[in-house]
Amino acid sequence: MSVIQLENVVKTFGAVKAVNELSFHVKRGEITGFLGANGAGKTTTMKMLLGFIKPDSGRVLINEKDPAVAVTRKQIGYMPEIAYYYPYLKAYELLRFYGGLCGMTKKEIAVRSKMLITKVGLTGAENRELKTFSKGMLQRIGIAQALLHNPDVYILDEPFTGLDPLARIQFRDLLLEEKKAGKTILFSSHELSEAELICDNVVILKEGKAVWSGTTAEVAGDGTQNLERVFLKMLAADANEGEAI
Ligand SMILES: Nc1ncnc2c1ncn2[C@@H]1O[C@H](COP(=O)(O)OP(=O)(O)OP(=O)(O)O)[C@@H](O)[C@H]1O
Ligand SMILES: [Mg+2]
Repeated sequence: MSVIQLENVVKTFGAVKAVNELSFHVKRGEITGFLGANGAGKTTTMKMLLGFIKPDSGRVLINEKDPAVAVTRKQIGYMPEIAYYYPYLKAYELLRFYGGLCGMTKKEIAVRSKMLITKVGLTGAENRELKTFSKGMLQRIGIAQALLHNPDVYILDEPFTGLDPLARIQFRDLLLEEKKAGKTILFSSHELSEAELICDNVVILKEGKAVWSGTTAEVAGDGTQNLERVFLKMLAADANEGEAI
């Protein structure tokens, strides 16, 4: 069953067509990498998948339902591209606050927070105010927050950005564990090697359109390809078309 579905989705901002007739599906238990240059439309698509903004036309469904509906929204773990946290909150207070919003009990929040603080490597920093956190530490608490309420679906906007090599490996393992537990994951990234390592499928977006989508096995092709080559080829193919015009 497709957990994430986009069908002919269009979203414009004034004269800018941020998302242009975009269609793709993500099946349960699969990890899909959402790739594309700056401004390709990844964040706009993810905001529609969260129900934060509405498409001009087309359909966006999570578990076959409108993502703007609260019950659907609760099934999603979201990590924004740029998180704005209240700077005087301590790390554990942030998790307690989000857990409360998600309807978790105090006990559930305490158990999950403790486990996630350890998993994202923030042990010892849970009582520090977020204003004292480094960029990577903020990224890590963002991961913990997205996973806190044990959602079915993850929509993660550039989750690998700012993570040091060890944190990347830990986060990669964490995503693979979640996949094993049957979770469905869509994440955007500029880290092509990272995407190649953990994704079942890849969607490459260019000017709001999917210019390539397929499995990572298809990316590898006859062994002469890798994701970086496919990605560059897709951009070059479009550039050549542009030149011809
Ligand atoms: N609120 C907005 N108002 C006007 N234009 C917008 C708005 N949000 C996005 N856009 C435009 O839509 C296009 C797609 O932006 P989007 O943020 O979705 O790209 P992205 O693929 O996430 O890029 P990046 O890799 O830089 O994060 C860009 O041209 C952007 O300027
Ligand atoms: Mg973005």
